Amino acid sequence: MYTVLFVIAAYLLGSIPFALVFSRLFGLADPRTYGSGNPGATNVLRSGNKLAALLTLLGDAAKGWLAVWLASYLGPQFQVGETGTACVCIAVFLGHLFPVFARFKGGKGVATALGVLLGISPLLGALVLVTWVGVAILTRYSSLSALISAVLAPIYYGLFYGFNLYFAAIVVMSAFLISRHRQNIGNLLSGKESKIGSKKKTG
Ligand code: G3P
Repeated sequence: MYTVLFVIAAYLLGSIPFALVFSRLFGLADPRTYGSGNPGATNVLRSGNKLAALLTLLGDAAKGWLAVWLASYLGPQFQVGETGTACVCIAVFLGHLFPVFARFKGGKGVATALGVLLGISPLLGALVLVTWVGVAILTRYSSLSALISAVLAPIYYGLFYGFNLYFAAIVVMSAFLISRHRQNIGNLLSGKESKIGSKKKTG
C-alpha cells in the first residue's frame, strides 16, 4: 500500500515542469514555443538565459534524485523494497515525460534520468555524467551526448551491479529517452541538428 503512495508521489514530483517554472519566473517565452519545442534545459538555453537553463537542469535532475533517495532511505520503514524503489525510478522519470501538471506533454528525460541514476548509485551517475560531458565537449551535440549516455547507462550498471530490477528500470528509461529523441536522430543524420548554445533549431 505504501509502495503505491511512494510511486504516485514520485510521479507527481516528476511532473513538476522546471523548464516552464523557471521560464515563467525569469519572464522568458514558453520553451514549447521556440527552438526544438522541448521543455528542457538544452532548449531553455536557446532563450539565451544561461541561469534559467542551469536551474532547469538542476531542478529536473534533483527531482529524479530526490524520489529515489526518499524511496531508498524512508522506503524500508514503509515496506518499500527493491521492487518498489525500481518502480519509483520509472515513475518519477515518466512524470517528467508525461506530466500531469502540463497536459501530459513533457520533456525528453535526460536530466531527470541523470538524477535517478545518481540516486541509484552516485558512481553510476558520475560515470554517465562524465560520458555526457565528454561527448558534449567532443561534438557539441546535447542530443548525441544524451543518446550515447542512454545506451551506455544500462551497460555500466550491468557491469558494476549485475542484471537486477534497477537494471531493468534503467533499460526502460533509456528506451523511452531514445524514443523521445527520434526527431534529434533524424536531424543528426541529416546534419541539421543544432549544437549546444546555438539559438537555431530546425524541428
Ligand atoms: O536534453 C534534451 C537534449 O538531449 C535535446 O534537446 O532541445 O535539442 O531537442 P533539444
